[in-house]
Amino acid sequence: MNELLPALYDHLEPVALRIARRAAEFEPIDAQRAYLIGVSRQIVEHGSFKAEAPSLVSPPGMEGTLGWFKLLDTHLEDFLAGHVGAREIIAEGGGRLWETFQARDLVCAVFGHGVARALAPLLPAADVLELGTGTGGTTRRMAADLTTANRVVLSDLRQSFLDRVAAELPGVRLETAIVDINQPQTGLGQFDLIFSTNCVHVAKDLPVTLGWIRQCLKPGGALVLGEGSHYSEVVPSPVSLVLSLFDGWWDVPTSPERPQPGFLLPEHWFGAFEAAGYRNMSMERWTDGRRTFGGVYWAFA
Ligand SMILES: C[S@@+](CC[C@H](N)C(=O)[O-])C[C@H]1O[C@@H](n2cnc3c(N)ncnc32)[C@H](O)[C@@H]1O
Repeated sequence: MNELLPALYDHLEPVALRIARRAAEFEPIDAQRAYLIGVSRQIVEHGSFKAEAPSLVSPPGMEGTLGWFKLLDTHLEDFLAGHVGAREIIAEGGGRLWETFQARDLVCAVFGHGVARALAPLLPAADVLELGTGTGGTTRRMAADLTTANRVVLSDLRQSFLDRVAAELPGVRLETAIVDINQPQTGLGQFDLIFSTNCVHVAKDLPVTLGWIRQCLKPGGALVLGEGSHYSEVVPSPVSLVLSLFDGWWDVPTSPERPQPGFLLPEHWFGAFEAAGYRNMSMERWTDGRRTFGGVYWAFA
């Protein structure tokens, strides 16, 4: 169990609940707003989010997450009425808020830390691929351990992200590649380890994505994912409210196997791994009973 997460989410819940109560009163004008209003109504109707913060001062390290909540708070009614678009709100946060959130905020960092810690003993002489490297919230934590790997390929949709992270990994036998997880990849080679933190849940067709990833693993190789989770099938994660601004979160096609957009619950990951032909699945699960926060998943080819 990651001991930090309950305290962090105790601080997010009152902020999220105040926004959810306002959003729940709106009627949607399009699919993106319908998602935000839908998760808001789930939060309000379930009634389990704390209304009061546990202390007046938020723990340090949540500035990125709270920064996104503040922007949504400021623009909520204008966004829901269609007077302002999600892209304008995101642009107001800009690259700096994105990086503070992704690479340094504790709400994200615990997942990168969990993946880095899980992988460290397996890196010597390994061929390794990362999907969705982003601003390097996971990769930078692995800088020393990655020097022992045989081949390290960092990938994302944007080369600028990769160049910045690569510059901070001296001594690593490093390559970068543009990889869209929604496009089956050939030609990357075969890997002992493929890892990804909070990226693979954006897959539009999870069986296809998990299938091509398995094809890129050597026999016995491992896929290691750090992934957040909704609290349950009926209670979304509080961060769903702010992530509803981002394409790739709210617009993922759902199915009986993957009933909610955004994060998957552990049972849905395990079902998806099995359907894609993985074996020996396991996870380090982070939950406090009432809430599932996610964790680190292992699935072997
Ligand atoms: C939440 S960030 C996580 C970044 C990083 N893994 C970390 O731990 O800090 C998700 C990353 O996935 C990337 N991403 C989004 N959609 C993607 C896609 N279809 N294929 C590959 N990467 C994608 C984004 O560019 C972003 O860098």
